[in-house]
Amino acid sequence: MGNEITLDWDKINDIIEKYHRDKESLLMIMQDISDIYNYVPKETIPVLSEKLNVSVTLIYSVASFYKTISLEPRGKFIVSVCTGTACHVRGADKIMDTLEGYLNIREGQTTLDKMFTLEGVRCIGCCASGPVITVNQDTHGGLDRTSTLKVVQEYQQRIT
Ligand code: FES
Repeated sequence: MGNEITLDWDKINDIIEKYHRDKESLLMIMQDISDIYNYVPKETIPVLSEKLNVSVTLIYSVASFYKTISLEPRGKFIVSVCTGTACHVRGADKIMDTLEGYLNIREGQTTLDKMFTLEGVRCIGCCASGPVITVNQDTHGGLDRTSTLKVVQEYQQRIT
């Protein structure tokens, strides 16, 4: 359904070799693959299983246990709304509502153009700046509806 991407198998193999095909490094290998594609493409699962000599079941368990790992395509920008207590008290719900409305998706979903994925996360340790969101590695705090939209629009402009 238009989600096909071309995998760079050289890069993926380089990552696997970088960790010496060590099964103990499965999480880090999946994380490194995710750093390239923003998710771990399902096509890599049998390759990881064979090269690291781990079961497919283990790979699925790692993916479901660690929130930073997804087997489903995610957006270029991962927008994470902190739903921790301090941010909740300061209006995190409104921030989530604003983003859901603007991006036309619900928490946990990705926009059709694969630009944004919206997630809720637990406290990210910037409570004094709440409500806080992160967009990939960037943190934005002290948000209200207007400034939240500005933040997202800035990222939109980067890709237009
Ligand atoms: S509760 Fe949001 S950063 Fe701590």
